[in-house]
Amino acid sequence: MIETKLSDTKEVCGENNLQKTKDELTILAIESSCDDTSVAISRGTIILANIICGQTVHESFGGVVPELASRSHIQNIVPTVDAALNMAKISVADIDAIAFTQAPGLIGSLLVGVQFAKSMAMSLKKPLIAVHHMQAHVLANLIGSNPPCFPFLCLTVSGGHTQIVLVKSPLELDVIGETIDDAAGEAFDKCAKLLGLPYPGGPLIDKYAKEGNPLAFRFAEPMIPNLDFSFSGLKTSVLYFLQKQERGFIEANLNDLCASIQFTIVTILLKKLKKAVNETKVKEVCIAGGVSANSGLRTELTSLGIKHGWKIHIPSFEYCTDNAAMIAITAYFKYFAGKFASLDSTPTARAIW
Ligand code: KG4
Ligand code: ZN
Repeated sequence: MIETKLSDTKEVCGENNLQKTKDELTILAIESSCDDTSVAISRGTIILANIICGQTVHESFGGVVPELASRSHIQNIVPTVDAALNMAKISVADIDAIAFTQAPGLIGSLLVGVQFAKSMAMSLKKPLIAVHHMQAHVLANLIGSNPPCFPFLCLTVSGGHTQIVLVKSPLELDVIGETIDDAAGEAFDKCAKLLGLPYPGGPLIDKYAKEGNPLAFRFAEPMIPNLDFSFSGLKTSVLYFLQKQERGFIEANLNDLCASIQFTIVTILLKKLKKAVNETKVKEVCIAGGVSANSGLRTELTSLGIKHGWKIHIPSFEYCTDNAAMIAITAYFKYFAGKFASLDSTPTARAIW
C-alpha cells in the first residue's frame, strides 16, 4: 500500500482570524478514523467539550466492520456535533476553525468526518485544518495545565500502531521505532479472541489481569534489533500454548492467562522505551493511544520512571483512546503555524506525517 505524505496549504478557505489571541481561538474538531464518532470544542489549549459516541454494532463480529462503521458515523455525526456545542455552551458563530482527522484510518469512516468538516467550513466561512491521527495521539499529552517539556519521547500504542516518537516541538515529530507487524492493541485484541473474549479485548484483559499472576505462564518475546517492535510471535505462542491444554483450561485460568499476556506485552514495550531513553538521553517520557489506558502499562511505566529518574506524563483516560480533543489540540498548533487545508483535501487510509 502506498503511503502519501500529508500536505498543508497556505491558502485558507474562509475567513482567517489570525488576529485571535492564543487563549481565544475556538476550534471544533471531528475524529472519525475508526469506530468512534467524536467531536471536541477547544478554546486555547483548554478542552470545553469532548464527546465520544461509540458503536456497539461491531461487538458480535469480533472486530470493526468498515461498512457498518461508516454508516454509523453518518447517523452519529450531527447529534455528536450538537452535544459538543451544548456541552461547551457555544454556538456555531463562536467557532474560528474546523479541524478533522485526514489519515490514517478506515477510508469510509474518514470520509464522513472530512465531508462534514468541509461542509461546516464552507457554510461558516471558516478555515479548515487537516490532522494526522497518530500525531494527534502524541499531542494529546499537551492538553491541560502540566504539559511535558520539549524534547520528549512518546510511546504511542493503539489498535493500529506502535511507535516510539521523538517530539522536538508540537509540529516536529520523528518516528524512531515502530512495529514491523501487529500493533500492541492488536496483540491484546487477538490474544483476547483466543481466550474467547469479545472485541475489543484489550480492556477485558486489563480487567481480568488485575486478579491474576503475571508470572503464571511464559510467552515468547521477540528478538528484534533497534527500536522496532514485533507482536505477531506472541499471538502464535499463545495459540500453540492453548492448543496443548485440556478442555476448561481457559475458564479455570483466565485471570492468570490475562495477567501473563499483559505482562509480556508491557515488558516488550518498556524494554524498547528504555533503550530509546538510553540512546536519545531524553528523560521526559509520555504515552499515548488506546493501549496507554492499560493499568499494567501505566503502573510499570510509573515505577520505571521513579527508578531511572524519568519525568513521566500519562494522559487522562478520555484522551488515551480515540477522541477529538487530541485533534483540536493538534489543530491549535497548526493554526498558529499557518498550516491550513484546502476544500479539495481528501482522506487517505495510510499516510506519513
Ligand atoms: O487508540 P485507539 O482507541 O484506536 C486506534 O487508533 O487504534 O486504540 C484502540 C486499542 C484497541 O486495540 C483496544 O483493545 C486497546 O486500544 N485498549 C486497551 C485498553 N483500552 C483500550 N488495551 C489494553 N488495555 C486497556 N485498558
Ligand atoms: Zn487512535
